[in-house]
Parts: sequence; C-alpha cells; structure tokens
Amino acid sequence: VYLHHMNKASWKSPSNIALIKYWGKQEVGTQLPANASISFTLSQCLTETSIEIAEGSGVEIWLDGNLERSFEPKIVQFRERIRGHFSFISEGKWIIHTKNSFPHSSGIASSASGMSALALCLCDIALAKGELDETSRIQKASELARLGSGSASRSVVGPLGVWGKHPEFEDSSDEYAIAFDNIHPNFEDYRDVILLVHQGQKSVSSTVGHSLINDHPFAKARFEMAQSNMSRMKEILTNGDLKSFVELVEQEALTLHALMLSSNPSFVLMKPGTLMIIEEIRAKRKKDGLNWCFTLDAGANVHFLYPASDEHLALGFVEKVLKQHCQDGAYICDQLGAGPLRQ
Ligand code: DP6
Repeated sequence: VYLHHMNKASWKSPSNIALIKYWGKQEVGTQLPANASISFTLSQCLTETSIEIAEGSGVEIWLDGNLERSFEPKIVQFRERIRGHFSFISEGKWIIHTKNSFPHSSGIASSASGMSALALCLCDIALAKGELDETSRIQKASELARLGSGSASRSVVGPLGVWGKHPEFEDSSDEYAIAFDNIHPNFEDYRDVILLVHQGQKSVSSTVGHSLINDHPFAKARFEMAQSNMSRMKEILTNGDLKSFVELVEQEALTLHALMLSSNPSFVLMKPGTLMIIEEIRAKRKKDGLNWCFTLDAGANVHFLYPASDEHLALGFVEKVLKQHCQDGAYICDQLGAGPLRQ
C-alpha cells in the first residue's frame, strides 16, 4: 500500500490571467521569460489531474476518460525536459487522468492549469520518496510547471503570481513564480468574467507566438516597457488605485495584440466580437464612471475585470450587453483564487 501511494498523486490547479504579459523568451536557457509578468490566479477555471507511475514505459493521457493521443508529444517533451530533477522521472509508465472544469473547446488555454497540476503531482511523489522537502515544494512545482508552459509557473501560487526576475519584487526569479499578496482591499475577490467570443483552436500556438518576438523590431522597447509596467502594477495593487489599474491592464492587453499584429508573419487574433466587447466596456466606463476593464490572452476571448463590489451591476451588463457578442452566448464567471488544491 505504501509503495502504491508513493507513485500516485492528484491535484486540482487553476488557470491564471496575466495583467502584465509574458510574451517572449530569453534566447539562452529553457523557458526563461524575456520580462517579468504578474497574473491573477483564478478559482473556477481548473484542471484536475492525477498521475500514477506504473510498470512499463511511455505516457498515457486520459482526458475525460478518453485516451488522448494528441497530448502525448507535449507530455513526452515535458518529461524529457525535467528528467534531471528527480530520480524517478524517466522510470515507469505515466498514466495521467485529466479533466477541465471548462469546455476543452472553449479556447481557454488548459496548459497553465494542466501543467501546474501535473507538476504538483510529481512534487508530491518526490516528497513521498524523500527527494523533496515541504519547504521547497511550491518553488519546485512552479519551476517544473514553467518547463511545461511558462504561464503555468504562476498557477501554482495565489492570489497573484509573479514570474520573472524584477528588482522591485523581492525573491522573484526567472526560474519559478512567487506569490504576491500585498494587495489593497479594492482587489480582494476581484472578478473576471471570461467572454467566450470564439471557441476553438487558437490560430497561433504560444510557442510560435513567443518565437515571433525574437526578430521583432519592437522587442527591446517591449521588454523594457514590461519591466517598468511591473513596477507601476506593484504600486497600483498596493495602493488600490483602480483608475490606474484599468489604464495599465488595457494597455498591456492591447500591446500584446499590437505585437502580434506587427509580427512577421502577423496575426489578427481578435474577432469582431472582441472589438465590440472592448468598445462596450469602454463606453460604459466613460458614461457611468466605473472602474471596469478588459484584458486579453493570445486569442479572441475577452476577460472582463471588475471589483467584487460591482458584481450585481456588472453581471447585468454581461447579460444585457456583452453576452450577445459571445459564441452561443457563452461566458464563465470567475474570480481571484488562492491557488491549487491537493485532491
Ligand atoms: C499571452 O505560457 O502559453 O498568455 O511558455 O510557450 O507554453 P509557453 O507559452 P504560454 O504563453 C502565455 C502567453 C500569454 C501571456 C501570459 O500568460 O503572460
């Protein structure tokens, strides 16, 4: 029974939404960011993953109970990358069961929640085998998650995650994310309604996307801008200045898209619905003086962010105004979360 437990673990881990974006990797090293980033850890968009290391070799991934061969290359690559971290990584057959709380086709990236959940599972096994101490568990899990997918490093911690070395965030590192919780009450339980404008495959994978920044004419300016935006964001989160928050978050989202629009090849990832929602949020803000804003991932969906105290009003606005721009009227209500849970 003991042996059995040593080879099995299960975690539920959330997705996250970046406020200051990670877009671009360092040219030397594996999965190191070109600039620091900070994100809200979510609480409803989750991946639940279990792993069992069994007799044999290779990997087997079951999504919602169905064998998913298309996930294998990514997991095999991940396993290869983290080989040196624990003695047992290359041994046995990985049997992974995974399920998302959000529809797989929703266009919500499951890599952050999925890779962080898997990394946490592996760290539990390492704990049981005496290859890891509880004191370094979170840091190690974040480091492994990063090697699976950069943004996944931030899902291991909450309510906010900071990944990437930055002089104003003590103990920050390019190797793993750290929690940021020095936030003003204005940001407590902050809401994120994810408006599903376009459900389906993204037209640019993040791996391709990140590589486009390497020869981008604006790259250097962008990385400097991100570092200074991190300083501004720290100040805003601490002093609760919602007006500046709105401005900075939208600037970051649109800068991310501006970089893709001006890449070679270039990508237009917004859809007409994305722009409609952006305009509606801005018009409403102007008219009613609300501190509501949006942010975007590398895709068409819009994250509608607002303070918890506006919940009633904002949800009415989603139903009446924003929902019609979503595919099949679909959206997901989420909010700031504390991080992953052992199952
Ligand atoms: C636009 O973490 O998905 O969401 O490291 O190649 O797996 P890889 O990329 P990924 O990139 C996410 C980019 C982003 C911004 C962000 O989350 O910071």
